[in-house]
Amino acid sequence: MVSTYHDVYQGWKANPEGFWKEQASEIDWFSPFDRVFDPGQGVYGRWFTGATCNTCYNAIDRHVERGRAGQAAIIYDSPITGSKRTITYEELKEEVEALASVMQDNGIGKGDRVIIYMPMVPEAAFAMLACARLGAIHSVVFGGFAARELATRIDDATPKMIISASCGIEPNRIVAYKPLLDAAIDMAASKPESCIILQREQQGCDLVAGRDIDYAQAVGAARSAGTEVACIPVAATDPLYILYTSGTTGQPKGVVRDNGGHMVALKWSMKAIYNVEPGEVYWAASDVGWVVGHSYIVYAPLLHGCTTVLFEGKPVGTPDAGTFWRVISEHNVTTLFTAPTAFRAIKKEDPEGKLIDNYDLSGFRALFLAGERADPDTIQWAEQKLNVPVYDHWWQTETGWTIAGNPVGLGALPVKYGSPTVAMPGYDIQVLDDAGHPMKSGQLGNVVVKLPLPPGCLPTLWNADQRFRDAYLEEFRGFYKTADAGIIDEDGYLFIMARTDDIINVAGHRLSTGGMEEVIAAHKDVAECAVIGVADKMKGQMPVGFCILNAGVERPPEEIEKEIVALVREKIGPVAAFKTAIMVPRLPKTRSGKILRATMQKIADGMEWKMPATIDDPAILDEITDALKERGLGS
Ligand code: COA
Ligand code: AMP
Repeated sequence: MVSTYHDVYQGWKANPEGFWKEQASEIDWFSPFDRVFDPGQGVYGRWFTGATCNTCYNAIDRHVERGRAGQAAIIYDSPITGSKRTITYEELKEEVEALASVMQDNGIGKGDRVIIYMPMVPEAAFAMLACARLGAIHSVVFGGFAARELATRIDDATPKMIISASCGIEPNRIVAYKPLLDAAIDMAASKPESCIILQREQQGCDLVAGRDIDYAQAVGAARSAGTEVACIPVAATDPLYILYTSGTTGQPKGVVRDNGGHMVALKWSMKAIYNVEPGEVYWAASDVGWVVGHSYIVYAPLLHGCTTVLFEGKPVGTPDAGTFWRVISEHNVTTLFTAPTAFRAIKKEDPEGKLIDNYDLSGFRALFLAGERADPDTIQWAEQKLNVPVYDHWWQTETGWTIAGNPVGLGALPVKYGSPTVAMPGYDIQVLDDAGHPMKSGQLGNVVVKLPLPPGCLPTLWNADQRFRDAYLEEFRGFYKTADAGIIDEDGYLFIMARTDDIINVAGHRLSTGGMEEVIAAHKDVAECAVIGVADKMKGQMPVGFCILNAGVERPPEEIEKEIVALVREKIGPVAAFKTAIMVPRLPKTRSGKILRATMQKIADGMEWKMPATIDDPAILDEITDALKERGLGS
């Protein structure tokens, strides 16, 4: 098929509002929009102003009404617990209505915030959809975050209710969620009025009288009563959810997603980007706590009338590196979306891909990778072993869907290894130098997107318009700063090379080194510290801390390192994967006192580096090099 991408992209550029108006016809609106885009509203304008709609209606009810009632909506496959469950669209409607009715009885309505702190169980998706049904705003917090991180999000979102579970299950342990939840509520200044707790059979928990509601009892009763809960009309511009993501400090950013634009963009993406038809099985192997989980485990596949797979397990060890192939063949998955790190883990366990031969993958059509740079080795391995095309695509929590990708539904473009391919309609991507001047093709610079951002992207940060302007819109006037550095080549292909801020990417998880530094600096023996991301074969990057100890501290450095590692795990959570803290006498700085993190990172990664002209004392870089060598890191 000859790709129509260039025509479609030019069509969008010539008439952006016309393009999005056409895509909006795929959504059922309760009342139509006055304007496709109103530049006068919000920080940089708002999409589909004047319309009312409901995301849950579009994700569930309309499919039940139009012939998909008996089709599987969600396939829950949990090798970690040994359970499986198929939920049809009709059953999904019942589950969501029953939960929505319990929420309503406990005072939840339009605009109220509800935090969801759940493992990968179907109830997590039910909770998201029940919020959407009621016009409540959900904020899902990833289970790998510790109590303090949860407390920060509680204080920012001020939820009226929290929906959680007794435990999550990791391969090496059961993670008791309830003590983390209770500790977070204790720590937070804002207190939820009630909590709905799913008791899991692997490990239950005590409920707090007067606050906690047993999920199964309450929802079961509502289901038996056959309670119906209508989809509440909300403005297209009303928030559907807040998703916190790492910023440069310990205070995460609350990315806001609206209802209308989000539905339009995601619905369009399912065919145009992923080439999936309604009724087919789509699998995003991620977690509902991340943006990929929001967009491509829950909302997009359901908006499109697909069956989505909700997988509670790991690419390896549950029970082996053939799990992904089993799920694909057993459930007729056509399209898999995951992070490259998952494939690196599989490749390490089964380099020859022998386990693939045990399964019939004839219905499998394409693999999509995102979340971190897809290294050509991993892409080629997957192409050869699976015998399907592999497509890298680039996006962020902030955008909610692809900024640059290979639109397979419009006819795939040739793949260039190392490139997520080209700008999607809606995004005018440019590369600018630090002063905001356009770079020539092939030159590395700041990757920015011309405003306005397309539907689906964040209109602002939760209760923080000014922070939104400062963080994203201030540096390059008229553009959204992605904080990624990259290149556009002569064919218009984009290459994303690195972050321009202190964010690192560990196993496809976005983490703030600034946040880790704040935790480490609080250790009683630490005078100063710097955390950098060091290249790692499996996880892409791993955090490494450098610490200067207070004068007079004589304890063994190994003992202090252990405490620092434990502190980061306790305060941020296991997901930080923080394992290395190196004690050093000094940190390299500019004459104005700025720590030279980028140079340290280049040394650690064994890359070429130049002595910064402004360095205070060049000898310190030799000390850092030696300290890294002692740990087997760097050149
Ligand atoms: N709840 C509690 N703890 C969690 C958790 C959760 N939901 N998810 C991860 N953790 C813990 C892990 O158990 C691990 O703890 P440990 O230090 O005791 O071993 C720690 O957090 C680090 O987890 P992770 O970085 O995921 O490493 P891993 O070794 O457990 O697994 C991979 C490595 C590659 C298998 C795994 O990262 C993976 O499947 N990645 C897929 C990528 C992905 O989902 N990306 C999301 C965006 S697409
Ligand atoms: P997150 O918000 O967690 O999705 O992380 C977004 C960041 O991950 C981006 O700003 C990039 O730095 C990185 N990223 C995501 N996808 C890709 C990709 N396909 N190639 C390179 N980097 C990526």
